[in-house]
Amino acid sequence: MLVTGKEILDHANKHNYAVGAFNVNNMEIVQAIIEAAEEMNAPVILQASQGAIKYAGIEYITALARVAASKVKVPVAIHLDHGTDFEQVMLCIRHGFTSVMIDGSRYELNKNIEITKKVVEVAHAVGVSVEAELGKIGGTEDDISVDEREATFTDPEEAKIFVDETKVDSLAIAVGTAHGVYKGEPKLDFDRIKAIKEKVGIPLVLHGSSGVPADAIERAVSLGINKINIDTDLRIAFTQAMKDYHREHPDNIDPRKVLGPAREAMKEVIKEKIALFGSAGRA
Ligand code: 13P
Repeated sequence: MLVTGKEILDHANKHNYAVGAFNVNNMEIVQAIIEAAEEMNAPVILQASQGAIKYAGIEYITALARVAASKVKVPVAIHLDHGTDFEQVMLCIRHGFTSVMIDGSRYELNKNIEITKKVVEVAHAVGVSVEAELGKIGGTEDDISVDEREATFTDPEEAKIFVDETKVDSLAIAVGTAHGVYKGEPKLDFDRIKAIKEKVGIPLVLHGSSGVPADAIERAVSLGINKINIDTDLRIAFTQAMKDYHREHPDNIDPRKVLGPAREAMKEVIKEKIALFGSAGRA
């Protein structure tokens, strides 16, 4: 069932759990996520980055996600991950996304407020939810990179001003995670999550959540994280299963024989994440 991001995240916020937001760019990935969510009776967010949209084409991405959402009873939102400009966000809204992220984190506070506010005004007018980002999350998500030295944590006071001014529905915060594969173990600033949540009250979003230890995820959820973005862990499961199949069947020429097990491997990882985030049985 297709719903807005706000419907999903407000419920999670009220009942203190987090929903998995999994990155998609092809049919098998969409199927892995939707089957996992249905089996776990969990709400779920299918998110596409600008890079994924460029790769698959917006018509394919939206059509795949809409079909997937229409086939299940669990709530499903279609979300733009890290939209960087107004035009990209409008394109996604026009194609039927029910949630969008405007990432103005590369700008200083006032400019970030300005572009986020503009998106919120238009998106809310047509019933689409908006996520924004404050602070700078390090690492690489598809074609967007933030140098580790430039990553800055979210300031709770600024977060309060930002949310009051923009009326955004959810906020991505920088608290020690980074996109991509971690070199060491990430250290989350739990006090900061708590302080931001106390100030803003709205659903908080954790990006770069692949590779974060389970106990840290649980604690982050208990302190107010309601949306958890996962991409890298899914890519690893998918490609590892493909490599394994190729190694065992070097003469295979049927793409389905490779993609089928990759989809299954990814689905198992998604089910584990859904259980960890506390969204199983919440649909
Ligand atoms: P990971 O690739 O680290 O899981 O991050 C995904 C993400 O935050 C997408 O916005």
